[in-house]
Amino acid sequence: MGVADCQVFELPIVHDPQGNLTFIEQKRHVPFEIARVYHLYDVPGGATRGGHAHRDCEELLVAMSGSFEVVLDDGREKKSVRLSRSHLGLYLPPMIWRELIDFSSGSVCMVLASEYYDEADYIRDYGEFLGAAAG
Ligand code: TYD
Repeated sequence: MGVADCQVFELPIVHDPQGNLTFIEQKRHVPFEIARVYHLYDVPGGATRGGHAHRDCEELLVAMSGSFEVVLDDGREKKSVRLSRSHLGLYLPPMIWRELIDFSSGSVCMVLASEYYDEADYIRDYGEFLGAAAG
């Protein structure tokens, strides 16, 4: 698994003049069972989050409001994806170093995760990540 597997999924949209609706079903629209949902909010404009990888946890990131850029790194390649639409989900497999940068003010980032929160699943040191990614 690498940055090539970090794909943007189109989520279903039910269009309605009174407002659109998007839904996400586990194993249908995300390739994992959802154990946890969290969201980042009240993020100051221009702020940076992330700066870690997960050993096992898979995630789907959705910009529910506003926009931000996700810089992805598998230890060999990097790529950047800007999220700004709430019907698009960025899938991150395990062992991807990610930085969330350049938040527009008022952004909300929702994350669906395949695991419960576990600090032991995090790699927060980039050198350690490169060593683990090199396997
Ligand atoms: P972290 O995942 O480092 O945030 P980000 O990647 O958005 O910068 O988490 C920040 C803090 O919040 C850290 O102390 C762990 C805690 N946390 C939880 O307690 N539960 C959770 O589900 C998450 C995602 C984080």
